[in-house]
Amino acid sequence: MSMLRSRIVGVGGYLPERILTNSELAQQVDTNDSWIIERTGIRERHIADPSERTSDLAIRAAERALANAGLSGQNIDLIVLATATPDNTFPATATRVQAAIGMTHGAAFDVQAVCSGFIYALTVADNFIKAGQVKTALVIGAETFSRILDWTDRATCVLFGDGAGAVVLRAEEGQGGNADNGILSTHLHSDGRHYKLLHVDGGPSSTQTVGHLRMEGREVFRHAVVNLAAVVQEALAANDLTATDLDWVVPHQANKRIIEGTARKLGLSLDRVVMSVDRHANTSAASVPLALAEAVGDGRIKAGQLVLLEAMGGGFTWGAALVRF
Ligand code: UT7
Repeated sequence: MSMLRSRIVGVGGYLPERILTNSELAQQVDTNDSWIIERTGIRERHIADPSERTSDLAIRAAERALANAGLSGQNIDLIVLATATPDNTFPATATRVQAAIGMTHGAAFDVQAVCSGFIYALTVADNFIKAGQVKTALVIGAETFSRILDWTDRATCVLFGDGAGAVVLRAEEGQGGNADNGILSTHLHSDGRHYKLLHVDGGPSSTQTVGHLRMEGREVFRHAVVNLAAVVQEALAANDLTATDLDWVVPHQANKRIIEGTARKLGLSLDRVVMSVDRHANTSAASVPLALAEAVGDGRIKAGQLVLLEAMGGGFTWGAALVRF
């Protein structure tokens, strides 16, 4: 049976120029390079210049994804931008991107699911395409978490970085089976009971301040491995596939140990897992599209390959998307 599929036809990523190493951080808080590498796999992260906003990062990633797809802003019908660090409380950061890429029709809005934001945004855009409402969509994950970190809290400030990643989706006809090119399925979950374990202690309606990120790291870790393994199994089962069918997994880049623990639980070999956490740290909604853009850009991910994207973040929220390139 023929059906509409969202094909990924362009990818792009952008990282701010400034690199902050573990050793530099060790001069600011009571930490050290070996603790950070051993517990997280992180060696360095990129930090936005004070003059750079989330939209600036998003625009650079979007321009690269559009160039990769051979399209311009006028070819795009929809922008869905995932961020927990918008330029302003409103309007949506997506509208800044819309204006910058010269897109004067269609719709642009933000979604907020923290580190799962890109999977959520991809799901929203995929459903618009499958419903026949739009033909092309730009899906962006962009963050400046450096702006919401408590730089005196060693348990959190070493874990995050800034960046942006984007993909261009285009509607194509598929057969409805798992051999189709494009997004085969997406799977979203949330459980608001765990709000306190990972949250920002400010906001327009609570404190009228931006606030700082607070996290119970060990608890988040425990939930992450369980939830991520479950949602990956769910995505595979929904498409009559098993872990051995996967060519690549592009996981949320929060912690090397979470990525390895999830891979172990699924029986996945680590040489099929894309890893960028060592250089990017956790860039929240940007982490999956940034890692994806790297792996497509350097030729690891090739046309026809089966790729699984997954993420978990504050809320809790978590999700996965299975894509044939
Ligand atoms: O995107 C989703 C959001 N986030 C995550 O997925 C993160 C999930 N959690 C994690 O990645 C890990 O739990 C952390 C990396 C945050 C922490 O690793 P851990 O192995 O769970 O360490 P811990 O929190 O149990 O802390 C162990 C020790 C503590 O000292 P004591 O109490 O044993 O004396 C901490 O105070 O390490 C100490 N510690 C540090 N030491 C040096 C915490 N942060 C640091 C630090 N440098 N930066």
